[in-house]
Amino acid sequence: MTNTPDSNQKTNYGIDAPGVIRNLFFGGLILLIIRFTFPVFRIGSTDIDITWFIWPGAIFTVESILMMVYSLYGKYKHRSRMLALIDWKGDEQVLDIGTGKGLLMNGAAQKLTTGKSTGIDIWNNEDLTGNNMEEALKNAAVEEVADKVEIKNENAMNMGFADNSFDVILTNLCLHNIYNKEGRADACKEIGRVLKQGGTAVISDFRHVKEYQRNFEHLGLQTKLFWPNYLTTFPPLRILVVKKP
Ligand SMILES: C[S@@+](CC[C@H](N)C(=O)[O-])C[C@H]1O[C@@H](n2cnc3c(N)ncnc32)[C@H](O)[C@@H]1O
Repeated sequence: MTNTPDSNQKTNYGIDAPGVIRNLFFGGLILLIIRFTFPVFRIGSTDIDITWFIWPGAIFTVESILMMVYSLYGKYKHRSRMLALIDWKGDEQVLDIGTGKGLLMNGAAQKLTTGKSTGIDIWNNEDLTGNNMEEALKNAAVEEVADKVEIKNENAMNMGFADNSFDVILTNLCLHNIYNKEGRADACKEIGRVLKQGGTAVISDFRHVKEYQRNFEHLGLQTKLFWPNYLTTFPPLRILVVKKP
């Protein structure tokens, strides 16, 4: 599938976890409104001081704003940081797991000459606004990499690729969406299986990252964990680099 590049258009990589952002924003706002409208609640003859509502109210609201800022701006910086961890040659076979609207798939494709960047997803709409294959291809066209990308419906826990297929595997904010430990272990096993010997996986997430690290080490892969960049990501995203010797 190819789209015509259109440099007048802008990429749109969506808002991550829109339901969480909405709940934090309105939850925080309601607490702040209550705090400033009724600072003291009276139940019977007892006055209950609720001035402390200001803290959770302010924290929830600020968190929702920081998540929006990550989705709109920070994710481009985070993508650059992840991609800079690879020593690109241009001929790599790349896999982006949970590509969503193609953020890492398209970013990686820009590093390629003869290589190919494949994005896989199960297109869960709760995880990203407007999450579908067509949107990822639209972004590929805008980034002028449509001829270097391919998108497939695949689940991280059970991928249809042959062993040792990819030089580079990328995944951002995807694996925590697998809600059980066994499922996440299966996804790590699959990453280890489809990664070529000598290949590198760059895995970014805000939770369970130490668990992923243990899973990969258990499989005999080498790992290195990087701290989040607190200025560009919220929630703070750690990066795990995995090498298959
Ligand atoms: C928060 S979005 C992040 C999208 C993209 N990686 C980015 O950084 O913009 C998480 C993505 O992971 C996908 N996803 C969740 N569970 C998955 C699974 N088991 N296999 C493949 N994709 C999955 C969702 O459909 C969603 O597109």
